[in-house]
Amino acid sequence: MKRIKINLKEGSYFVYTGYPLNDIGKLIKEGYGKKTLILSDRNVHPLYGKTVKDSIAGKGKEIIEIVVPAGERAKTLNTAFKILKNCAENNMGRNDTILTLGGGVISDLGGFAAATYMRGIHFIAVPTTLLAQVDASIGGKTGVNLPVGKNLVGSFYQPSFVYMDYKTLSTLPEKEIKQGLAEIIKYGVIKSREIFNLLEKTPPREIKKNLPFLIEESIKIKKGVVEKDEKEKNGLREILNFGHTLGHAIEISHLSKFFHGESVALGMAGETYISWKKGLCGKNVYYAVKKMLKDYSLPYDFSSIEMDKIFDYLKYDKKARDGNLRFVLAQNIGKVKSGVVIKIEEVIKILREISKDEG
Ligand code: NAD
Ligand code: GLY
Repeated sequence: MKRIKINLKEGSYFVYTGYPLNDIGKLIKEGYGKKTLILSDRNVHPLYGKTVKDSIAGKGKEIIEIVVPAGERAKTLNTAFKILKNCAENNMGRNDTILTLGGGVISDLGGFAAATYMRGIHFIAVPTTLLAQVDASIGGKTGVNLPVGKNLVGSFYQPSFVYMDYKTLSTLPEKEIKQGLAEIIKYGVIKSREIFNLLEKTPPREIKKNLPFLIEESIKIKKGVVEKDEKEKNGLREILNFGHTLGHAIEISHLSKFFHGESVALGMAGETYISWKKGLCGKNVYYAVKKMLKDYSLPYDFSSIEMDKIFDYLKYDKKARDGNLRFVLAQNIGKVKSGVVIKIEEVIKILREISKDEG
C-alpha cells in the first residue's frame, strides 16, 4: 500500500495504490457531501459495485448509482447528459461527489460530469483497468468523444483522490491487461530504463507479480510530467504522446482492428524506426522496442498494415500543420526528444521501408 502525492499549484491530491476496495469508505466518511453518485459500467458494476457502495453507505450518506454500457461507445455527450440530469434530479449540491468505478472510459466520462455539474463537484476515481491505473485516472484530463473524433470535448479537472485495489485486475481480460502493458512500455522508453529492463528480464507470463511495482513507477513518471505541465501549456506533457502520433493514425485508419494500446504499440515501433532512420537513435534501440512488443504479444510488425490508409490519414490530419508532423522520438531507452518536426512526405518515405526491415 502506497500513497503517491500529485503536487499541483492548486488541488494537490493523493493516489492510493494497492488499497482494499472495501476500505474506500474510510476516506469518504468525512467531507465529500451527503450524496455520492457511483458511475460504473455493465461489466464492472456487478463485480465491484456492491463492495464500494457498502463501504461508503452509512449514517447520512446517500448513494446514487448509474451503470452505463461498457466500452468507448458510451463516452458521448449523450451519456454525460444522462449523468448530469441524474445529478440534478437527485438534488446533488456543490459539496457532493461523483465516484467513477471502472476503466478510462468511465473516469473520462465521470470526471467530465464532475467538472461541469454546478461548475465542479468532488470527483473520486477508482480505476479498475491497468490502463486507467497507470494513465487515464492520473493527471486530470477528462472528456467525451464527438462523432468526428476522440476526446474533442473536455476539461482539465483533477480528482480529489484516486484509489486503486490491484485485486480488481484479477478479473480483467488478458487483452485489456495488454493495453495497459503497452502504456507501461511507453513509460519505460520515455523515462525509465529500470521499467524497460524489468519488463525485458521478466518472462511475460510472470509479469503480473511485478505489476504493483510497474504501476507505482508509471504513476510516478506521469506525476513528474503533470506537475511540470498540468494543462499542456509548455510542451513538457507532450512526451506522454510517444507512439501516439502514428498510433492515432493507425487506430483511426484501421477502424476497430486494433485497441488503443495495440495502436500505440505499433506507433511506438514505427516512431522508433523513424528515429533510427533520422539518426536520433541506434538500430539497437529500434530492435529492443520491437522485441519488447513482440515478447508481450503486442503488434509491432507493419507487414499486414495497409500503409496507404495511414498515409492518407496523416496527409489530411488536422494536426499536420503546413505539411509537417510533430513527433516524440526515442534517443535511447529512457530518453526521448519531443517536438521533432518532420515533413509528411519524408515520414511516408521512411515508413514505406519499414516492412523491408522487419526481422
Ligand atoms: P474501458 O474503460 O473501456 O475498459 C476496458 C474494458 O474493461 C471495458 O469493457 C470494461 O467494462 C472492462 N473492465 C474494466 N475493469 C474491469 C475489471 N476490473 N474486470 C473486468 N472487466 C473490466 O477502457 P480503458 O482501456 O480502461 O480506457 C480507455 C479510455 O481511456 C479511452 O477512452 C481513452 O481515451 C481514455 N484515456 C484517457 C486518458 C486520460 O489521461 N484521461 C489517458 C489514456 C486513455
Ligand atoms: N495520456 C496523455 C496525457 O495524460 O497527457
